Amino acid sequence: MIEILGLSHQFTRQDSADENLVVLDNISLTIEKGSFVSFVGPSGCGKTTLLRIIHGLIKPKVGKVLIEGETVCGPSANRAMVFQEFNLLPWRTVLKNIEFGLELQGTDRSARRQAALDVLKRVGLGGFERYYPHQLSGGMKQRVGLARALSTSPTYLFMDEPLGALDPQIRELMQTELLKLLDAHRKTVVFVTHSVDEAIFLSDRIVVFSARPGRILTHIDIELPRPRWKDDEKIKSSEKFVTYRQHIWHLLKHELQSELQLQTMPKLA
Ligand SMILES: Nc1ncnc2c1ncn2[C@@H]1O[C@H](COP(=O)(O)OP(=O)(O)OP(=O)(O)O)[C@@H](O)[C@H]1O
Ligand SMILES: [Mg+2]
Repeated sequence: MIEILGLSHQFTRQDSADENLVVLDNISLTIEKGSFVSFVGPSGCGKTTLLRIIHGLIKPKVGKVLIEGETVCGPSANRAMVFQEFNLLPWRTVLKNIEFGLELQGTDRSARRQAALDVLKRVGLGGFERYYPHQLSGGMKQRVGLARALSTSPTYLFMDEPLGALDPQIRELMQTELLKLLDAHRKTVVFVTHSVDEAIFLSDRIVVFSARPGRILTHIDIELPRPRWKDDEKIKSSEKFVTYRQHIWHLLKHELQSELQLQTMPKLA
């Protein structure tokens, strides 16, 4: 279980050394073991920051995160993160990038190679083992990042828009693949996405954030039957799915409109 307790965070503003940019405001949330929780909210509301704090890459200014009762102080071998900006090592091939996490875990060479090849096929990149990141498209790089995280069989998987660079068709196929994989190897997943449909299809619970500073507006439990990958078309067109979409979109629209007004309003003298 992940417990986020009274968490707030701020960064020093780049345009003013004396002022802070408040990014997260008093976030408290419990994520049950084995559940799939998605964060949705306007761009810049602090989703990536929160995910980095949960993973232990940023220390929060106020509050804390507990995983299995222990305060998070840094990354750990049973947790993996898929980064929004891929974070691949440019001097390593696709296969070597995927093996990287396993190397850190101390897995021996042949087991490492086998696990990397297996997961590579799952993300549809069989045959690209010897390519370097600069020889891949954005969507392919993103799938390598996903494969790297999956290859270590983490208990906790943190994913920051992991399918955002994929074309819509591949994206839907990867959502289904992800659900199949999670059915076979249950994990606790925290997932960030801008796609409301993706969040509904994948999640047990969706947390909707306000515009910056990010506050939790509401939690929505998604009570769609599982396994969802078997009847994906039927589920996505069901009345319940459409009702969830309308409800979440309504909440987000309100936040996005106030964000947009803030940005486009001329400054008064
Ligand atoms: N290291 C940093 N130093 C200063 N400001 C930062 C830093 N990281 C993030 N920010 C600021 O914090 C705010 C939240 O950023 P964050 O990346 O968490 O948003 P997000 O919700 O993930 O947005 P998006 O949906 O666009 O990915 C932004 O205004 C950003 O400029
Ligand atoms: Mg982000």
